[in-house]
Amino acid sequence: DKENELKPRAPIITVMGHVDHGKTSLLDAIRNTNVTAGESGGITQHIGASEVKINGKKIVFLDTPGHEAFTTMRARGAQVTDIAVLVVAADDSVKPQTIESISHAKAANVPMIVAINKIDKPGANVDRVKKDLADRGVLVEDWGGDVISVPVSAKKGEGITDLLEMILLQAEVLELRANPDRLAMGTVIEARLDKSKGPIATLLVTNGTLKAGQSVVAGTTSGKIRVMTNFKGEAIRKALPATPVEILGLSDVPMAGDSFNAVKDDKVAREIAESRQEKMREDVLAKNASTTLEKLFS
Ligand code: GTP
Ligand code: NA
Ligand code: MG
Repeated sequence: DKENELKPRAPIITVMGHVDHGKTSLLDAIRNTNVTAGESGGITQHIGASEVKINGKKIVFLDTPGHEAFTTMRARGAQVTDIAVLVVAADDSVKPQTIESISHAKAANVPMIVAINKIDKPGANVDRVKKDLADRGVLVEDWGGDVISVPVSAKKGEGITDLLEMILLQAEVLELRANPDRLAMGTVIEARLDKSKGPIATLLVTNGTLKAGQSVVAGTTSGKIRVMTNFKGEAIRKALPATPVEILGLSDVPMAGDSFNAVKDDKVAREIAESRQEKMREDVLAKNASTTLEKLFS
């Protein structure tokens, strides 16, 4: 029956790597826009979600910060993703957050594609990057492994088409499918409180179809979707599987990494959220109690 029918869905790609190795610039080059220029000091502070269409095929991209303070965000990125694109600057090679990104991708069991970036720079050394990756257990094709690597220059726009083709090839192998005819579920990518609009959450729908007006539970909060916009900020009524959206209408700010579910009615949504809040309070109390006990007996 229709309720259980799986249909092909777009791949969700997370771009990871060391700080300033060019993740956001690479996405800019892919989208042909200029996001880095708009970031404060060029440092990515949050997971940004966007969509591109290549030869009529959609790809969803998540950008992650390379700064060492953002470990959990990168871990979350790796968890919601189908393929990780590891960006390594050819003039800087493998660095701590490169190694950490490799660990996240491996822990999440996600295939990796390496984008060796900044090949336009005088100090670029692609072979050294491949060797340093091999030392970390990532064997690219000319090192006898099966990890695809693509030399690119985000600045000059070189190698971008090759990279996108490799992503689509890898995605085809994964045969990604989802059911657009069920209630939506997915992950909270980021959330914040807007002074006038209230809680704003970026959700990534991974299965089902999310509709404006529906009730959702996200982590320990819930609400009815008042406004739903796509990655371009345009109001939309429906979001199919593998679509990032921003929603208004939650009663509180959920946490990035929380899962969300659309539910049939408001009351059920509130009840689920309330029982989760209750559970969280109990966990905190239990934790405090055990800490107190530990202190008493230490
Ligand atoms: P974080 O989000 O802060 O981790 O950085 P990022 O990995 O997103 O790097 P970002 O795109 O902000 O680029 C860092 C710097 O490298 C910027 O000054 C870019 O202009 C520069 N850069 C990025 N790609 C290239 C490239 O292909 N060639 C050259 N020459 N510079 C590049
Ligand atoms: Na940067
Ligand atoms: Mg960035």
